[in-house]
Amino acid sequence: MAKIKTLTFLFILFTIFSISTLTTTATKNHGFARAISPAKLGIKAEKLSHLHFYFHDIISGKNVTAVRVAEAPGTKTSPTRFGAVNVIDDPLTIKPELSSERVGSAQGILAAASQSEFAFATTFNFVFTSGQFNGSTLSVLGHNSVFSNIRELPIVGGTGVFRFARGYALAHTYSRENNGNAVVEYNVYVFHY
Ligand SMILES: *[C@@H]1O[C@H](CO)[C@@H](O)[C@H](O)[C@H]1NC(C)=O
Ligand SMILES: *[C@@H]1O[C@H](CO)[C@@H](O)[C@H](O)[C@H]1NC(C)=O
Repeated sequence: MAKIKTLTFLFILFTIFSISTLTTTATKNHGFARAISPAKLGIKAEKLSHLHFYFHDIISGKNVTAVRVAEAPGTKTSPTRFGAVNVIDDPLTIKPELSSERVGSAQGILAAASQSEFAFATTFNFVFTSGQFNGSTLSVLGHNSVFSNIRELPIVGGTGVFRFARGYALAHTYSRENNGNAVVEYNVYVFHY
């Protein structure tokens, strides 16, 4: 019995020692990181914004906004265009017509990354150029199965008014022409400060 008590005591002692060591390590200033108050960055309450706009992916015609920059030897014969890499600078407008008011661009990379469906590994930034979001960006990183009715893409961050952003974008193909040009409707829900 006494032995068990001694062991228990030693165990408690060890636990206390471990916790205090960890705490000291975590709070110690190593010279490159320190805790600051959110107020120091002017951070107040978190806001939730809903953005709605249309994305124009123009792959053929005079002023293309999406270009093929690389492909694999088998891309042309692949039913899913596996290995195709496109760089986009697609206009974003408030209405489905390209001539409607421009709010920004979607700039980045669409890589055909599936061998079983037509899907992109999507990496792009929404770069806003008008209104309250002018100069701010949102970063999108996700799986985009282009023939699904609604695709959900994570918003992984942002800049400007979108610092600390997190959220998701819902993409829906509004129209697609025979030449491949497409208009995609986006509903974006994002938390930011
Ligand atoms: C292509 O861009 C030029 C210059 O902005 C513009 O004048 C022309 O109308 C555009 N063409 C089409 C087909 O959109
Ligand atoms: C957006 O910001 C840039 C840089 O500050 C400025 O030149 C431009 O006029 C602004 N555009 C709009 C539509 O507010």
